[in-house]
Amino acid sequence: MSLTVEELYNKWPYPKVSFLDLCFAKVDQAELPLLSYESCYEGTYGSLAGAVKKPRILVVGCGTFEAVAVQKANPSAEIFAIDLSDSSLNQLKRTLKIFRLTDRVNIQKKDFLSVDGKFDYIIATGVLHHFENPQTAFNHLASLLEDKGVARIMVYSAFGRSFIYEMKKYFSLLGADAPKKIKKIVELLPAGHPYKIYFYLYSDTKNDSGIADGFLHPVDNPFTALSLEKALEQAGLEFGFSLQSHIDMPENLKAKIAEQGTYWRQMQIIDALSLLRENFRFVLRKKGFLESAQPGKMIWHPLLKGVKKNLYSRILGKSIYVNTHLDLKGFTDAEIFALQKAKFILKE
Ligand SMILES: C[S@@+](CC[C@H](N)C(=O)[O-])C[C@H]1O[C@@H](n2cnc3c(N)ncnc32)[C@H](O)[C@@H]1O
Repeated sequence: MSLTVEELYNKWPYPKVSFLDLCFAKVDQAELPLLSYESCYEGTYGSLAGAVKKPRILVVGCGTFEAVAVQKANPSAEIFAIDLSDSSLNQLKRTLKIFRLTDRVNIQKKDFLSVDGKFDYIIATGVLHHFENPQTAFNHLASLLEDKGVARIMVYSAFGRSFIYEMKKYFSLLGADAPKKIKKIVELLPAGHPYKIYFYLYSDTKNDSGIADGFLHPVDNPFTALSLEKALEQAGLEFGFSLQSHIDMPENLKAKIAEQGTYWRQMQIIDALSLLRENFRFVLRKKGFLESAQPGKMIWHPLLKGVKKNLYSRILGKSIYVNTHLDLKGFTDAEIFALQKAKFILKE
């Protein structure tokens, strides 16, 4: 009999965070601005006008570590982190203690669907596809969001993970119900077999938690870009801005895809062409609260105060030199555009 979602994550808390990860503070400085409320708000509403000073943040299905990064990215926020799995939450508590952040995050064992209250910023990374009916989860998220709130989402792509779903069927046919058994089966495959290659390329196969999360999950309901668009529409939500990593494609293909209309139509094609190479990552807002953008000057993201070095931006697919002592007047329009896209600078 298959495990419940709670049992799966109690047995294999996700992600596995090793002692070394903790020593090297598994938090990427270039990624922190993108995880901050200010960036998600500014990216969604066009400027920081109307952003709250001390946002209430909900981290849904926080797992073993995410709330630490969220706290680092949002030092002045009131943070609530919930999860179904006691083992994951216990691990998170230990890590928060090591980082001396115990008092900065309110942790509760809770099913997302039973959370109430209102939040300025909701983060749900790798969670909403693990509901029997993901639409209920999107509807509930909409009911928890303040009118000018923002939500940062990562959900599975059905196209992008199609190989994983095929492998999952194969492992299940052979009765593999534990990571150890899955690894044994992969070893039996002939060298060069696509499943074998894919298994080792898939970053989550480095430990049992990742293997269980990828291949033993009892509830896995991925999206296409178009099914996502529909789910958001039904929940009264809409696209705010994209957190997708840089997608490398020829300019003429980019132009052809741009003709296809909405963001989600374009993503449907990009994903079907296997160009996405990751899951869907985006920020959303409630429908009907977008005002025209306010004029405002550009400022460095406060989390980068005093930084003077190259930072790799996942969104740009390249490093850019950040020097927060400099006046932004010294930058060209193209440089300003790149800094803004990476959320290293924000419009006030
Ligand atoms: C793939 S893990 C992601 C963990 C974390 N968000 C991250 O990205 O590192 C999914 C997490 O969501 C939690 N989860 C799944 N369904 C949930 C629900 N209905 N309510 C609360 N947490 C849930 C699981 O226990 C698990 O810790």
